[in-house]
Amino acid sequence: MVTVKKSCKSESARDSHRLQPSSNHENFQRTKERKLRVEMRFHASTISRVSQFKNRAPLSYQSSSQRRKRCNFGIAFDIDGVILRGRVPIGGSPRALRRLYGDSGELNVPYLFLTNGGGIPETKRAKELSELLGVNIMFSQVVQGHSPFRNLLKKFENELIIATGKGDPTLVMSEYGFKKVVSLEEYASYFESIDPVSQYKRWTTMPLSDRKMPTLPRCDVSSERIKAVFVVSDPVDWGRDIQVLCDVLRSGGLHREANRNQPPLYFAADDLEYQAAFPSKRLGMGAFRIALESIFNRINPKGLEYVSYGKPNPFVFKNAEAILNQLQSSLCLDHSENNGVPRSHPFKTLYMIGDNPSVDVKGAQQAGRPWFSILTRTGVFRTKDNHAEFPADLVVDTVEEAVDYILKRECMS
Ligand code: G3P
Ligand code: MG
Repeated sequence: MVTVKKSCKSESARDSHRLQPSSNHENFQRTKERKLRVEMRFHASTISRVSQFKNRAPLSYQSSSQRRKRCNFGIAFDIDGVILRGRVPIGGSPRALRRLYGDSGELNVPYLFLTNGGGIPETKRAKELSELLGVNIMFSQVVQGHSPFRNLLKKFENELIIATGKGDPTLVMSEYGFKKVVSLEEYASYFESIDPVSQYKRWTTMPLSDRKMPTLPRCDVSSERIKAVFVVSDPVDWGRDIQVLCDVLRSGGLHREANRNQPPLYFAADDLEYQAAFPSKRLGMGAFRIALESIFNRINPKGLEYVSYGKPNPFVFKNAEAILNQLQSSLCLDHSENNGVPRSHPFKTLYMIGDNPSVDVKGAQQAGRPWFSILTRTGVFRTKDNHAEFPADLVVDTVEEAVDYILKRECMS
């Protein structure tokens, strides 16, 4: 079922016969080689302008006869509740993504994943998504909630920082270049009885000694001040984390020195709820932030200070636009245009396909033109009518319907 806001035409009919599966082994290999070449050229870590392409050899994977028409649109896909539920593809997502590739597996439409989730490095996430979805995804196409943390490298590269959350938050931060990262779990392990109820916790955790930890310079957490705290992904043990974060944020980690200036605190996202594998919505990082803030503000004279990244912040959409621009330039070389150097062109439309009105749709709305929001009914949002507070430009049942609509609207199907 499709609901269109404003003047967009309703186009709900699926066009599955046009699907062009390209995930067979041969195509996968060929695409892999191209992908590597593109990846080498593609610097998607932060907003880095297309000027970096100057004076470089143009991409060689397309012969001049194969030059493709420049795509004047791009797509940003939310992951949880649109592409996946837990680790399971939903809404025909593998088929939908395959439609963005040509017969021999070449990427025809610039797209990326714009998720507030995370906990693993973008390189690993790209690999994992490629396997789950059957298309070749470059790491530069994966923007996670914590991806902009790398912009804080200059400030904290050699400072002692804490990282917390599910997955491997220290690995994420180390891959961004931070040199002295300690996980909250490891930090807590240095202080006996810091978590007074730990002996009642019956779940089994892998001993720290068995985990692959990035090699860090030796640091003494009992005498060295914590310079910043990063909530990289959804915290696992809320009780312990709230307790230890209250300690660290009040004392800089030097427990006898309460009421010191609060170290900077960064959250990768602020989602109150999100769609995971369980049928109903789950509490997200925003819920954890509210819990921490409420408690901290009751026990500390000064209120909690923090910065939250992720959607719906407009800079996330600006960054996505810059990455899509680079991707578009690498895909659609027209050597006659700019002395053989790819040139970026503004997009006519950038589609944000999401499931969360107050995150995905609000973000696209705030970012303004050329963003166009599409809401699916596979995640946080499920109702028949458009969302009242943050109405999307289009409401569809699934991501497959969304892609079908886009390709028809852009005359590509
Ligand atoms: O923890 C993940 C969640 O907060 C949202 O992920 O992909 O829906 O932006 P996503
Ligand atoms: Mg989502």
